Amino acid sequence: MTAHSKDRRDFLQLTGFAFGAVGVACAAAPMINSLNPAKDTLALATTEVDISAIPVGGSKTVMWRGKPVFIKHRTAEQIQEAEEVDVTTLIDKQTDEERVKKPEWLVVVGVCTHLGCIPGGQKPTDAHGEYHGWFCPCHGSHYDTSGRIRKGPAPKNLMVPPYEFIGDTKIKIG
Ligand code: FES
Repeated sequence: MTAHSKDRRDFLQLTGFAFGAVGVACAAAPMINSLNPAKDTLALATTEVDISAIPVGGSKTVMWRGKPVFIKHRTAEQIQEAEEVDVTTLIDKQTDEERVKKPEWLVVVGVCTHLGCIPGGQKPTDAHGEYHGWFCPCHGSHYDTSGRIRKGPAPKNLMVPPYEFIGDTKIKIG
């Protein structure tokens, strides 16, 4: 092989790689664009909830990004029970204070952190588990009045979604 033909081959290989890379980038562009959420999807990314009608001790379930969110108006006893827990004994160590913005309101994603079932405990007639919060019957996970895992196979507390109070009786989730 002459030096010339070797150079030519190297050149062709390099341009081949370059065009290949451009091709991949072009093919990726529409895909990446399709991953950008559309406006209507963004609207669903936040949910505003009027909590004025939830009585003390009552709950409401709303949907946020396709998941149930449990909003609980806690009683003084439920708050006290949540606050008095020795955090060092917990599976997923979080104080109640870290999980609420106002002690009387608990807001958590209602999806069991084990395998994703929806725990019971939103209705007064539901089983609330040994720690008086929520109980996931799928494999027996017990959550307390702060939505923290206390017993069973779930590894994490019920997730607290991003939310904020917009006024005394309204929250915006997301
Ligand atoms: S999914 Fe809840 S305990 Fe398994």
